[in-house]
Amino acid sequence: MSMRQIMVFRFYLCALFWLSLPIVLAATAAWQPPSQPKTAVIAHRGASGHAPEHTLSSYRLAALMNADYIEVDVRATKDGKLVALHDATLARTTNVETVYPHRSPWRVSDFSLRELKKLDAGSWFDPRFAGERVPTLDEVVRMLKAERVNVPLYVETKQPGIERAVARLLQKHGVLQRGSVMFQSFHPESLQALRPLIPRGVPLIQLVGEKEARSGRDELLQQIAVYADGIGLPLSAVTEEWVRAAHGRGLMVHVYTVNEPHDLARLCAMGVDGLFTDYPDRPGRIAACRRPAID
Ligand code: G3P
Ligand code: CA
Repeated sequence: MSMRQIMVFRFYLCALFWLSLPIVLAATAAWQPPSQPKTAVIAHRGASGHAPEHTLSSYRLAALMNADYIEVDVRATKDGKLVALHDATLARTTNVETVYPHRSPWRVSDFSLRELKKLDAGSWFDPRFAGERVPTLDEVVRMLKAERVNVPLYVETKQPGIERAVARLLQKHGVLQRGSVMFQSFHPESLQALRPLIPRGVPLIQLVGEKEARSGRDELLQQIAVYADGIGLPLSAVTEEWVRAAHGRGLMVHVYTVNEPHDLARLCAMGVDGLFTDYPDRPGRIAACRRPAID
């Protein structure tokens, strides 16, 4: 090759280098290390820090805040209707004491759905939500479908004995499948009753309280691993050892209820698989909850 040809060749090489540099820089900036799954954000009773828990407004807001799951606590009324309610009684989250003053202790199971529908389930939280009603599970699924909200439900059976009715209702709406629903309960018998009623791949999460969490981690995990796919731990009990031990048995770790930014950051960095929060808009503002967890 003549000197001239070598010079021309070098010139084009340089030009190519400088022209491709911005592209290379952009690509490297966008590169992300191979990631561990992001910690799932579970809207605890919906976006219950911003709207009255277990109302259609609370679930709608949770979806708008990009929650990965919407948690629904389910109970049955006197006439066997499935409703979204946390407490066994109605006094805290409705105006039942005003509407039915002589029906103390106002247990959900003592009221028919028709009677429940007369209650205001919003004003206790904020007058802006006056007139919100206690929704049925059927209404929750219908609303999410009608508003094209594609956020999976995280259903908690609050009392044993409702599993068949819950499974049948979700089946009817075509959401009893992997990726559309996950189940949890404090009652092992409720999860064991659900197992044969649900398709493979729909996870079951065993919730434990503080006392249980403090009594023998490995025995507890061994028991739970027989019938469930994960454990739901209270914030006060979760440690790196718990997460390692549970993952070691192939169990997911979900933590309830995590609202403070420092706790959110700590748990995301710890690599928990999911966290229940009343503020599903907060984790997205925390770097550790956005980027992959580092073990
Ligand atoms: O499922 C997590 C959490 O919801 C359990 O506690 O009392 O809020 O239903 P609770
Ligand atoms: Ca719950």
